[in-house]
Amino acid sequence: MYSIVNPFFFSVVLLNAIHASSQASSSPPLMILGCGLDKGSEKDVDGRTWGPDDKFLQPGGNSIKSKASFQDPSLLDVVPYMSARVFTSETSYKFPVQPDKRYWLRLHFYPSVYGSYNPSESYFSVIANGGVTLLSNFSASITCQALSQAYLDREYSLAPLNTDALTLTFKPNDKSFGFINGIQLIEMPELFDSVAALVGYADQTVEVKSLHLQTMFRLNVGGQYISPKQDSGLSRMWYDDTPYIYGAATGVTNQAEKDVKINYQSMSTSVAPTNVYSTSRSMGNDKNMNMGYNLTWIFQVDPNSMYLARLHFCDYYYSKVNEIVFNIFLNNQTAQTQADVIGWTGGKGVPTYKDYVIYVQDDAGEDQLWLALHPAPDSKPEFYDALLNGVEIFKVNDTNLSGPNPQPSDMLMKAEEDERKFETHKRYNKTVVGSAAGGAAGFALVAAIVCVAVYSKKKRVPGSDTHTSWLPIYGTSQTTGTKSTMSGRSTNSANLTAMAQGLCRYFSLEEIKQATKNFDEPNVIGVGGFGKVYKGVIDNGVKVAVKRSNPQSEQGVNEFQTEIEMLSKLRHKHLVSLIGFCEEDDEMCLVYDYMERGTFREHLYKGNKPLSTLSWKERLEICIGAARGLHYLHTGAKYTIIHRDVKTTNILIDENWSAKVSDFGLSKTGPNMNQGHVSTVVKGSFGYLDPEYFRRQQLTEKSDVYSFGVVLFEALCARPVLNPSLPKEQVSLADWALICKRKGTLEDIIDPYIKGKINPESLKKFADTAEKCLSDHGIDRPSMNDLLWNLEFALNLQENPDGSTKGAARVIDESEFEDIRLGNNDMANHYKNLSLGSEHELSSNEEDSSSNHIASLAYISDPPSLLFII
Ligand SMILES: *[C@@H]1O[C@H](CO)[C@@H](O)[C@H](O)[C@H]1NC(C)=O
Ligand SMILES: *[C@@H]1O[C@H](CO)[C@@H](O)[C@H](O)[C@H]1NC(C)=O
Ligand SMILES: *[C@@H]1O[C@H](CO)[C@@H](O)[C@H](O)[C@H]1NC(C)=O
Ligand SMILES: *[C@@H]1O[C@H](CO)[C@@H](O)[C@H](O)[C@H]1NC(C)=O
Ligand SMILES: *[C@@H]1O[C@H](CO)[C@@H](O)[C@H](O)[C@H]1NC(C)=O
Ligand SMILES: *[C@@H]1O[C@H](CO)[C@@H](O)[C@H](O)[C@H]1NC(C)=O
Ligand SMILES: *[C@@H]1O[C@H](CO)[C@@H](O)[C@H](O)[C@H]1NC(C)=O
Ligand SMILES: *[C@@H]1O[C@H](CO)[C@@H](O)[C@H](O)[C@H]1NC(C)=O
Ligand SMILES: *[C@@H]1O[C@H](CO)[C@@H](O)[C@H](O)[C@H]1NC(C)=O
Repeated sequence: MYSIVNPFFFSVVLLNAIHASSQASSSPPLMILGCGLDKGSEKDVDGRTWGPDDKFLQPGGNSIKSKASFQDPSLLDVVPYMSARVFTSETSYKFPVQPDKRYWLRLHFYPSVYGSYNPSESYFSVIANGGVTLLSNFSASITCQALSQAYLDREYSLAPLNTDALTLTFKPNDKSFGFINGIQLIEMPELFDSVAALVGYADQTVEVKSLHLQTMFRLNVGGQYISPKQDSGLSRMWYDDTPYIYGAATGVTNQAEKDVKINYQSMSTSVAPTNVYSTSRSMGNDKNMNMGYNLTWIFQVDPNSMYLARLHFCDYYYSKVNEIVFNIFLNNQTAQTQADVIGWTGGKGVPTYKDYVIYVQDDAGEDQLWLALHPAPDSKPEFYDALLNGVEIFKVNDTNLSGPNPQPSDMLMKAEEDERKFETHKRYNKTVVGSAAGGAAGFALVAAIVCVAVYSKKKRVPGSDTHTSWLPIYGTSQTTGTKSTMSGRSTNSANLTAMAQGLCRYFSLEEIKQATKNFDEPNVIGVGGFGKVYKGVIDNGVKVAVKRSNPQSEQGVNEFQTEIEMLSKLRHKHLVSLIGFCEEDDEMCLVYDYMERGTFREHLYKGNKPLSTLSWKERLEICIGAARGLHYLHTGAKYTIIHRDVKTTNILIDENWSAKVSDFGLSKTGPNMNQGHVSTVVKGSFGYLDPEYFRRQQLTEKSDVYSFGVVLFEALCARPVLNPSLPKEQVSLADWALICKRKGTLEDIIDPYIKGKINPESLKKFADTAEKCLSDHGIDRPSMNDLLWNLEFALNLQENPDGSTKGAARVIDESEFEDIRLGNNDMANHYKNLSLGSEHELSSNEEDSSSNHIASLAYISDPPSLLFII
């Protein structure tokens, strides 16, 4: 995570450089327009200035400026989305361009109600220079709904136009209207002057230089989301590749050691930022395993079209030719034989990319692009492995890049309808409803986009039934899944099973009953909103926690689905891992890693009494672990995931005192939240609830930061977050701690067991940080990343009172490696050798897929989580 800092500053400088040159020249290479802005320019959160669009409009059209009627909570910013230009007849913009330059064109759409214009009635085309169709019969509303996003951005790369102007025409369908919220036009370096091999046609090539492209996918393979600011000057977004990986064979991710420099040599740094090249995904170090599977990504695309796949490579570990050699397949055809990254680049840490063009047919079901890697044994390489650092998929055409509107899935439509029903039903009940059913109504709309778009079509991995140990996955194993009988499975819950099938293990009810001795009461280790949690044993001795749904709870079904879909896609050392699930005869169970040491709270206090068990350092380490888990949720996945129920009973501790965040039943994904109606139901646990979320019903990741601030004070004071037996001002820990902190009497409420043993500097850092988390306004609270840094600093101050910041980083990195070094299996060795960065160490499950040491949720009775209706 420390590496984030440098590229960040680097790219800001680059952006500024572009800005500066844009001001110097008369025809600006950079145009950022907020369409329909009425007054001057506005800055967004990233500091970009969006200017008005008026002066580029051509006479002859009909358009009006309008404001969106509602700001979706996932829009973290007003510009460019809250204002729009609405076109009621064919209207054009004309932008000055350099005839010989390639341009990025980004279009931003937020389908909200604009005055009397309802986005569901909007269908229009967008045409560039009269001849290149970018969109046709386009419905932003349907597209957003299918993606379960509030807004959408389209990115095109237009080949040199040979004229000094770009005309962009918005053409509404009959009796309809068009609209646009933002337009970016950015001159770009020529990144596409390559000649790409046409896959499937020996010795045919495609000249990419003259083609117009639409960006479909851009992934930082084995790494995490890269924001426009962190990009190398072209403000692109690079996403995590995890959601696109086929099946459970995810390989391993790894990161360059800090002392390895990414050396671009003659390649332009604009091609991709160093963050892309310094992380990668490979197959693992077991030769037999690797020979048994293909490392595969699947992308949903429009059929009957050509695609350019640009693969980014950089080997920052090995340095010799013929150490890793592999074949690359696109849609089951060989794109490349004997790829040898070092052979291509000549050395360690030198990046390169390869372009392949493939035609995706219009046959039934052919709307996917498969990218697969497999070791090439013919060349007798030293290791049977394969490697990928980044991938970009572009649609290519010289006249028409448009595709049909997507079809929102039935399941998604149903979920949205349910939520609407629920909300209209409840809206009139303007009372606070207390519910012992731990945050009932987990209407979290499952991370549907990815599942629906990517997973629903998955078939099982061929041959997965016959292999037993090749899946380097976390805590789950498909092999054992095949022992289960697949019959008798009910489909009462919107066919979730089909989606999760490829991702986690399916248990038969019989297996679950065996594991829990037929749900024997003495095995109950907790009760949550969802139902009871049982301790169980599977596979002759592997301890698990089984969460059983209460069959009566209709809402449980939704939480159950959310949890499976969230957890099956997320993996991190500090997130609890889901092993599998059971859905049969109205029974629904989730099976997790068993967490030997229960919840964080159990180690802090019992009733109102501190337990005096954990030292300050141990508490800090647990907080840091949990913060890492949350940081991953907020930034590591494709979408920001907001946990919404951060509390000490949702932080579990394994046998090695490593903290793991659990219970995703209420989680919502950020820009992925459903649009079109206000989410009026505030969910979470009383005592931890972000007041701003409560007041304004706007959910952001800063709500988790607030709750985490409460957790920090709980760790320091070892008392319940709500204690009604105390005088009024002391009832709420969050309020009381802030009062004491401001009065300078915080010392008085510290857990007596640790009081006096905390280094004063460490305490100050910690308390300042916790206080900031509890700021009234989300904007004043630190990000999870800053928080993590501050906690690490506090830990460092405790351990080396005279230490430096540099020390903080070192201490943590080494302690992170510790866990891995201790594991003495192959996977652990592989990790060690590749020197994974802290963000990319996968959980224990990946270290050893066979020895499912697993975790659980909700150990002790949760205090009633409250459900508020406002
Ligand atoms: C370009 O787009 C048109 C319309 O979608 C399609 O029919 C044609 O096959 C495409 N051409 C290529 C080369 O992909
Ligand atoms: C590739 O092969 C697999 C396994 O035979 C098959 O399931 C899949 O549909 C194929 N993909 C394409 C795009 O042809
Ligand atoms: C990997 O993919 C290629 C191309 O689809 C296929 O021929 C091969 O059988 C696959 N190998 C494995 C082990 O699945
Ligand atoms: C472009 O392609 C889309 C989808 O393939 C099609 O519906 C549309 O008619 C085409 N437009 C033109 C101008 O060719
Ligand atoms: C436009 O898109 C809508 C929704 O996808 C579809 O129902 C309609 O048939 C399309 N119209 C044309 C002319 O293609
Ligand atoms: C208010 O809630 C109660 C139960 O929670 C329900 O029976 C009633 O119909 C609700 N009122 C309205 C107006 O929806
Ligand atoms: C679930 O799948 C079954 C068969 O695959 C289908 O008949 C049923 O309609 C589906 N249910 C839902 C809610 O999609
Ligand atoms: C805990 O550490 C031991 C080695 O000390 C290791 O064998 C074990 O797998 C670890 N357990 C977990 C749950 O990570
Ligand atoms: C990793 O390092 C260990 C020694 O530390 C060595 O025995 C092992 O072969 C190495 N593995 C790989 C895949 O390089």
